[in-house]
Amino acid sequence: MGLRWCRLFAAALTAILFLPFDAFSASEQAPNYTFMHNATSAPSVSYYDYIIVGGGTAGCPLAATLSQNYSVLLLERGGSPYGNPNITNLSTFGAALSDISLTSPSQRFISEDGVINARGRVLGGGSCLNAGFYTRASTDYVRQVGWDPRLVKESYEWVEKTVAFEPRLGEWQSAVRDGLVEIGVVPYNGFTYDHLYGTKVGGTIFDRDGRRHTSADLLQYANPTGLTVLLHASVHRILFRTRGRPRPMAHGVVYRDALGVRHRAYINRGSKNEIIVSAGALGSPQILMLSGVGPADELKAHNISVVLEQPMVGQGMSDNPMNAVFIPSPVPVEVSLIEVVGITHFGAYIEAASGENFAGGSPSHSSMFSPKIANNAEQLMENNDETAAAFRGGFILEKIMGPISTGHLELRTRDPNDNPSVTFNYFKESQDLERCVQGISTIEKIIESKAFSEFRYDTLPFPALLNMTANSPINLLPKHANASTSLEQYCKDTVMTIWHYHGGCQLGRVVDHDYKVIGIDALRIIDGSTFNYSPGTNPQATVMMLGRYMGVRILRERLSNEESR
Ligand SMILES: Cc1cc2nc3c(=O)[nH]c(=O)nc-3n(C[C@H](O)[C@H](O)[C@H](O)COP(=O)(O)OP(=O)(O)OC[C@H]3O[C@@H](n4cnc5c(N)ncnc54)[C@H](O)[C@@H]3O)c2cc1C
Ligand SMILES: *[C@@H]1O[C@H](CO)[C@@H](O)[C@H](O)[C@H]1NC(C)=O
Ligand SMILES: *[C@@H]1O[C@H](CO)[C@@H](O)[C@H](O)[C@H]1NC(C)=O
Ligand SMILES: *[C@@H]1O[C@H](CO)[C@@H](O)[C@H](O)[C@H]1NC(C)=O
Ligand SMILES: *[C@@H]1O[C@H](CO)[C@@H](O)[C@H](O)[C@H]1NC(C)=O
Ligand SMILES: *[C@@H]1O[C@H](CO)[C@@H](O)[C@H](O)[C@H]1NC(C)=O
Ligand SMILES: *[C@@H]1O[C@H](CO)[C@@H](O)[C@H](O)[C@H]1NC(C)=O
Ligand SMILES: *[C@@H]1O[C@H](CO)[C@@H](O)[C@H](O)[C@H]1NC(C)=O
Ligand SMILES: *[C@@H]1O[C@H](CO)[C@@H](O)[C@H](O)[C@H]1NC(C)=O
Repeated sequence: MGLRWCRLFAAALTAILFLPFDAFSASEQAPNYTFMHNATSAPSVSYYDYIIVGGGTAGCPLAATLSQNYSVLLLERGGSPYGNPNITNLSTFGAALSDISLTSPSQRFISEDGVINARGRVLGGGSCLNAGFYTRASTDYVRQVGWDPRLVKESYEWVEKTVAFEPRLGEWQSAVRDGLVEIGVVPYNGFTYDHLYGTKVGGTIFDRDGRRHTSADLLQYANPTGLTVLLHASVHRILFRTRGRPRPMAHGVVYRDALGVRHRAYINRGSKNEIIVSAGALGSPQILMLSGVGPADELKAHNISVVLEQPMVGQGMSDNPMNAVFIPSPVPVEVSLIEVVGITHFGAYIEAASGENFAGGSPSHSSMFSPKIANNAEQLMENNDETAAAFRGGFILEKIMGPISTGHLELRTRDPNDNPSVTFNYFKESQDLERCVQGISTIEKIIESKAFSEFRYDTLPFPALLNMTANSPINLLPKHANASTSLEQYCKDTVMTIWHYHGGCQLGRVVDHDYKVIGIDALRIIDGSTFNYSPGTNPQATVMMLGRYMGVRILRERLSNEESR
C-alpha cells in the first residue's frame, strides 16, 4: 500500500466496465451527416452567411441552429468523433487523454503553473473527452449574466433531449451520496439537472449503454442543405475590412486543410452576416491575437500587424483547481465517473469517481488525472507487480467555485496548431485556498461517515490517505513534507485541473452582452472563453446551452427584422 497504490488506482480508473443499464434507443451507427467533409475537398474560395470557427461544445449547437435559415460553414481543425471507440465508449475513458500524437482528439498542454491539462481537437470538442457529468447553471448565475431565463430553459431542454441521461448509481457512489447527506450537505435533492444547495445526483452524457453523446450529435438538428462542416480545417486568421470604415469589419477567414493547402471563406455581402468564433478558452483568444486583435505590444513582438488594440484579449484566464483524496477500498467497487455532487455553502463542490481493480483488464489507457501516473502504472504492470491486480478504490474530489484567482494567455508562436502559453495562478487569492481547505475537511468527514464505512480501511487514517496522494506524481509541482499535516500545503502541492478552464474573451471586456466583439463589426465569440466564472458545478451543459441560446437569439432578431421590412 502507499505510493504504488495511488499510481495504480489512477490508472485503474480507465478500466471502466459497462454498467447494468436497461433499454437504449440510440443508433449503433454514426449519424448520416451528408454535410460533413474533409477540408481537402473544399474549394479554394467559398461564400456563406455565417462562418463558425471551431466545431466544439458550443460551435455544434450554434451551427445546427443557424443552418435552419441561413447558409453556415463550420470549420473544425480535428476529425470526426464517430467510429472512434476512445471517444464513444465509456469503457475506454482516458484513452484519448493519454494519446499525445498529432492526430489525437486531445491536445495536451501544460500550464505555466505546472499542471497537465487537455483541450479538444475533434468535432464535438471537449464534450468528446470529458467525464460526462451534465448539470445546469444556477438561476443566480443566469440572472447575473443577464440571459433570458425562459430561452435558457428551452435551450437546456433542447440539448438534454439528445445528450443527457440519468445515471444508475452503484454502491460506492451511493455511499458518497449518503455520506454527504449524513455530514450535513443537505437537503438531498434527488436526481436533478438543477443547481441547488445540498446533495444531488446529476445527469451524464453517457447513455445507459455506456455510449457517449457529444455536442456533435446536436448536428442531427441541422438543416443539411444549409450546413457545411469541414473537418481537418485549421483556421489561421480572420480577415478584416478596414479601409473607409470607422471600425474593422470581419469578412472572411483563411484556413488550411490536412495537406497544408490554403483556402479562404468569406461571408456573403449582407449587413447581418457574421463570423462567429467558438474555438474554446485557449483557441478563441489565440485566433483573435493571430488575426491582429489583442495587446498591441504582444502582437508586435510576433510581427502581427495590429487591426485593433484590445489589451483584454487573453486576460481573465481561470482554471478551477481540483484536489482529490484517493481512498483504497477493502471491498470491490463499481467503476463510475462523476454522478453525485455536494453543493456546499462555502463555495466548494464535492464529486467522486471509483474504479474496479483492473486484473485482466488493459492498463494501456491513461488515468483520468495524469498521463504521468498512467505511465508509471504501465511500467508497474509490465513488471508484473501483484499489487496491480489487487487494487481497488475510489477518490473524492473537490472543485472550488469561481475561481477568484485569474491568469493570462500569451502566444508562443504564430502557428494556430501550437498551444499558446497559459498561466492560471491557482490559489493566488487566499479565498480560493480557504475554500479548498474547507473542501478537503469535508472530504475527511465523508470518509469517516457511517455511510462510507464499508469502503475505507480503518487502518488508514486520513493523514495517511493525504500522504499517499501528496507523494504521487499528479502534477509537476515541488512536493513538501508538511503536505499531509497542513491542508493549505496539501491543496497547493496536489492541485490538478478538472478541465473547466475558461475566460480569455470575457463578457464585458472583450465581447458585449450580445457576444459581439467590442470595437469590431460582424464578429462574435460564443463559447467558454466568454465566461467570467465557471457555470454550475461543471460547465458543459451551459456551454451547449449557450450555443443553442445564441443561435436562437440571432435567428429571432434577424428574422423579425426581415419580416417587418
Ligand atoms: C478531460 C475533460 C473532462 C471534463 N469533464 C467535464 C464534465 O464531466 N462535465 C462538464 O460539464 N464539463 C467537463 N469538462 C469541461 C467541458 O467539456 C468544457 O468546458 C467544454 O467542452 C468547453 O467547450 P468550448 O465550446 O468552450 O470549447 P471546445 O469544446 O474545446 O471547442 C473548441 C473547438 O474549436 C476547435 N478549434 C480551436 N482552434 C481552432 C482553429 N484555429 N481552427 C479550427 N478549429 C479550432 C477545437 O478543435 C475544438 O473542437 C471536461 C473537459 C475535459 C477536457
Ligand atoms: C445517407 O446519406 C446518403 C446521401 O444522401 C444516402 O445515399 C444514404 O442512403 C443515407 N443513408 C442512410 C442510412 O440514411
Ligand atoms: C483528409 O484528406 C487528407 C488528404 O487527402 C488525408 O491525408 C486525410 O487522411 C483525410 N482525412 C480524413 C479523415 O479522411
Ligand atoms: C426558418 O427556418 C424554419 C425551419 O426550417 C422555418 O420553419 C421558418 O419558416 C424559417 N423562417 C424564415 C423567415 O425563413
Ligand atoms: C466498449 O469497450 C468494451 C471493452 O473494450 C467492449 O467490451 C464493448 O463491446 C465496447 N462497446 C461498444 C458499444 O463499442
Ligand atoms: C486510442 O487510444 C490509444 C491509447 O491512447 C491509442 O494508442 C490509439 O491510437 C487510439 N485509437 C484511436 C482510434 O484514436
Ligand atoms: C519579426 O520581424 C523581424 C524583421 O523582419 C525579424 O528580425 C524577427 O525575427 C521577427 N520576429 C518574429 C517573432 O517572427
Ligand atoms: C508519508 O510518506 C512518506 C513516503 O511514503 C513517509 O516517509 C512518511 O513517513 C509519511 N508521512 C506521514 C505523516 O505519514
Ligand atoms: C511547508 O513547508 C515548507 C518548507 O518545506 C514551507 O515553505 C511552507 O510554508 C510550509 N507550509 C505550511 C502551510 O506551513
